[in-house]
Amino acid sequence: MKMGVLVFMRNLLLALCLFLVLGFLYYSAWKLHLLRWEDSRRRERKTGIPTLPSVAPSHIVADRTQKESKEPGGAPEPSLIKYDRLGFLLKLDTKLQAEIATRYANFSDGVCKPGYASAMMATIFPKFSRPAPMFLDDSFRKWGKIREFVPPFGIKGQDNLIKAILSATKEYRLTPALDSFTCRRCIIVGNGGVLANKSLGSKINKYEVVVRLNSAPVKGFEKDVGNKTTLRITYPEGAIQKLEQYEKDSLFVLAGFKWQDFKWLKYIVYKEKVSASDGFWKSVATRVPREPHEIRILNPYFIQEAAFSFIGLPFNNGLMGRGNIPTLGSVAITMALHNCDEVAVAGFGYDMNLPNAPLHYYETIKMAAIKESWTHNIQKEKDFLRKLVKARVINDLTSGI
Ligand SMILES: *[C@@H]1O[C@H](CO)[C@@H](O)[C@H](O)[C@H]1NC(C)=O
Ligand SMILES: *[C@@H]1O[C@H](CO)[C@@H](O)[C@H](O)[C@H]1NC(C)=O
Ligand SMILES: *[C@@H]1O[C@H](CO)[C@@H](O)[C@H](O)[C@H]1NC(C)=O
Repeated sequence: MKMGVLVFMRNLLLALCLFLVLGFLYYSAWKLHLLRWEDSRRRERKTGIPTLPSVAPSHIVADRTQKESKEPGGAPEPSLIKYDRLGFLLKLDTKLQAEIATRYANFSDGVCKPGYASAMMATIFPKFSRPAPMFLDDSFRKWGKIREFVPPFGIKGQDNLIKAILSATKEYRLTPALDSFTCRRCIIVGNGGVLANKSLGSKINKYEVVVRLNSAPVKGFEKDVGNKTTLRITYPEGAIQKLEQYEKDSLFVLAGFKWQDFKWLKYIVYKEKVSASDGFWKSVATRVPREPHEIRILNPYFIQEAAFSFIGLPFNNGLMGRGNIPTLGSVAITMALHNCDEVAVAGFGYDMNLPNAPLHYYETIKMAAIKESWTHNIQKEKDFLRKLVKARVINDLTSGI
């Protein structure tokens, strides 16, 4: 009888040890994932990219730690700070965290505030971790966060194509001039009709990084949208097809949504003939007037994070599926939260109550033409963008969100 109890206790202890060891292994594996990007960030810091650690106010960090340590037990501690299902703070319109208010107290309007967007993001979304490179570089295969996902959420199965592209482009960063700034303000210019006739052009030009999407034109609309383009992010079906419509100098950035997109970019980079029957859903650009060193691949992590962490689209086993693709606008904002010190947007948002307002700033199609989308979930994206605007993580110049 006594022996039986002893044997039972010994087995129990052994099981407990095993459990602890497994737990530790799991924890370290997770840590290592994070370290990769932190390491690459450190390298960047040496070479001049400005970074401030994104600070989460200490009480929120403490709260999160508490929750995490409780996880194996199941029920989370009830706490004073309330979060929504995705992990966003519920009360977004509270006054600035004392720590952040103090840090930026002496910055006057228009002076770039280092680390501001990521610090604000971390206060409303404690899981946010700033390091995540803008573009794929030659260490892309080591990035745990994207290695296990097929496009659009990762790079699985694309190794050879990406390697071939990067071996020609050889550039994985912004321009040397932009990398040397100690503080970078970025603006994502959406294509919305809300941009029309607001004369925001000169204001948009003042941002160090101006991001445009797909085929949004500049020529003829300079007064409203500015004449500077730092990055043009697009995919084959969205890219400008008429060569003369490209601005003089901008980086051409691929957001790869499907495997054909990487294949397409390889043709473009190597100036080979694009085969039109390659599984695109409409006609695609067959040439892009850019030299290989002006071409980049957007880090697919931003598509993954926007979809699953920020907007809360269906996971669908990590595969593309009905309504789980974020729009390029949300993807670009996600990229900027990680890589810019301040983030602004213009030309975002639709007012469905104004069916006769123009959908885009550059054409006369009306709002009413918007259709139920198979790929996107406009309402959920709007909820996400509203959180960012309300909490002053991003600044919405056209107040359309
Ligand atoms: C802000 O400026 C005031 C007066 O110039 C100075 O006393 C204070 O230390 C500054 N605060 C920060 C956070 O730099
Ligand atoms: C902008 O102004 C032009 C010229 O005045 C006008 O034709 C156009 O309808 C206006 N667009 C919007 C969206 O107000
Ligand atoms: C934008 O317009 C200004 C003023 O007309 C001009 O000086 C500048 O060179 C233009 N920039 C680009 C990139 O076209």
